[in-house]
Amino acid sequence: MSVRPKLYISQGIPEDGEAIKLYREQCEITMYDEKKGGVVSVPREEFLRSIKGVDAIHLAYSAKIDNEALDAAGLLKLSEIIVNCIIWCPQLKVIGTMSVGLDHLDLVECSRRTVKVRYTPDVLTDTVAEAAIALTLATARRHKEGMADVMNGVWGFTWSNSLYLCGKNIKGSTVGIVGLGRIGFEVARRLKAFGISHLMYCGRTPKDYASEVDGEFVAFDDLLKQSDFVIACCSINPSNHKLFSAEAFKKMKSSAILVNVSRGVLIDQDALYDALKTGELYAAGIDATTPEPLPVDHPLLTLPNCTVLPHLGSASINTRHAMANLTTRNILAGLKGEPLPAPVPSQK
Ligand code: DGY
Repeated sequence: MSVRPKLYISQGIPEDGEAIKLYREQCEITMYDEKKGGVVSVPREEFLRSIKGVDAIHLAYSAKIDNEALDAAGLLKLSEIIVNCIIWCPQLKVIGTMSVGLDHLDLVECSRRTVKVRYTPDVLTDTVAEAAIALTLATARRHKEGMADVMNGVWGFTWSNSLYLCGKNIKGSTVGIVGLGRIGFEVARRLKAFGISHLMYCGRTPKDYASEVDGEFVAFDDLLKQSDFVIACCSINPSNHKLFSAEAFKKMKSSAILVNVSRGVLIDQDALYDALKTGELYAAGIDATTPEPLPVDHPLLTLPNCTVLPHLGSASINTRHAMANLTTRNILAGLKGEPLPAPVPSQK
């Protein structure tokens, strides 16, 4: 009887889906149980313990793969293998992250230790773009305040208060997209249909496909100064942590709206609180925070002009299944030594 590969799953995947069925047929599974664990994401200690001796990890973006985790999984560094002339067959062969974001993985170290890493690009692009549009509209049109008024039974429209909960139009506005990658481009395409007057974007390099959305490549500072809506769709790297700082907020129009569907680390949340509280910034809609979940007593949650969502960007039923299925295909192919459907971009 052949030994089935050991797989660790760090966060729930759809119960009734193809992914879990395939895993059950082909692998010995250990899975984080949040009901037993008491918290949504696997605690670090438990994660490190659980990945010892596994052949594959099905990862959620909430669990970090760094040197410590790779040590815990028993992966030697290439230098150790060479220096000690070890003939080495590592147990951990593949990590499949169920995300397009890769900021929770040290990819350079993974490649040094020869573990394959795969992710889930493309399958969630439209869903995250739709989420960005929803959050932009909800923030611009003050849905959080409206829903609170409904719940509290204090609807306020009267003839003497005719601007009750009036917000901003997207039509005619200047929109700045930070990161015109797959998701940013789809957000731009959708916003064009709203009749925006000008689309700007910034990033590392101009994109040739930007002409399809009449996008103008500008410097980050110019984008901040001119945009009515700034929508962050970029991937995360060490250089853009707290890109949205107190200085950045000062450069933005006081009538501007910031939307973030990327990662929480992009924003200095204390500075965001101050900017929103003092009216330096009109409103913000954020789908990602630091930490996640955001503690219920966090100051940002007290602000009527700050809409916070619990990282729902890719949360449609079809897309969640598609992400799980692609991760499973990535992992099973990796275990069999077959070409992998979605390798991560090569790291220098
Ligand atoms: C991603 O794929 O990176 C999302 O943020 C997770 O849903």
